Amino acid sequence: RQTVVVIVAAGRGERAGQADGPKQYRRIGGVPVIRRTVDAFRAHPAIDRIVVAIHRDDEALFSAALPGSDPRLRVVFGGATRQASTRLALEALEPNPPRDILIHDGVRPFVDTALIDRVVSGLDADLGVLPALAVSDTLKRSGAAGHVEATVPRAGLFAAQTPQGFRFAPILEAHRKAATLGREDFTDDSAIAEWAGIGVRLVEGSPDNVKLTYAREIAMADEKLARAPS
Ligand code: C5P
Repeated sequence: RQTVVVIVAAGRGERAGQADGPKQYRRIGGVPVIRRTVDAFRAHPAIDRIVVAIHRDDEALFSAALPGSDPRLRVVFGGATRQASTRLALEALEPNPPRDILIHDGVRPFVDTALIDRVVSGLDADLGVLPALAVSDTLKRSGAAGHVEATVPRAGLFAAQTPQGFRFAPILEAHRKAATLGREDFTDDSAIAEWAGIGVRLVEGSPDNVKLTYAREIAMADEKLARAPS
């Protein structure tokens, strides 16, 4: 059995503000976000290979963040959406397909061994795996003029994280089908699996496994690492 991780890191990071370049190349605790993410998977014994989808303008940034060569690490160019970047990375693996694939956001550098274990060991022939956390905030739906229209019961609601795990062949097929039908609006791979009729099992996510979307989150991650160097 072979397990490969696809790390999608081809976003432009527009929500974080472009001033210092894409967020996956910012340093937190002195180390680029993408390097922390890649290293978390390099350190895991179940992961055989790593494919990172980057933007074609970011080759120099990527080489600076991860200098040296690593035969287990491969770089491909991503696409216009997260979904397209994932599909392109999966297609790059097709000539030598693994049995299992994990798909992870490059901007979640705090993924840890125990979380990767839960995803890898939860995978089977029939079900994908989604790490998630039960929602703890009270949820509101907004209506006209920013007024509260309704309170949404949070029972049974979870916030999805990555890495999400699947058998390689069916998730690639689901991605291709979505692209062929012009469905390019999925924000994670579990959503594509659900749409394609692949069952997905929930496993416990990690509160530390935050997605660094905004400049504020990057600054907070940097401060946290400064307080508790690893
Ligand atoms: O945009 P969003 O916050 O959903 O991005 C999640 C992850 O997907 C990030 O790691 C980002 O770099 C990646 N992404 C990508 N290709 C895109 C857009 C986002 O690989 N075109």
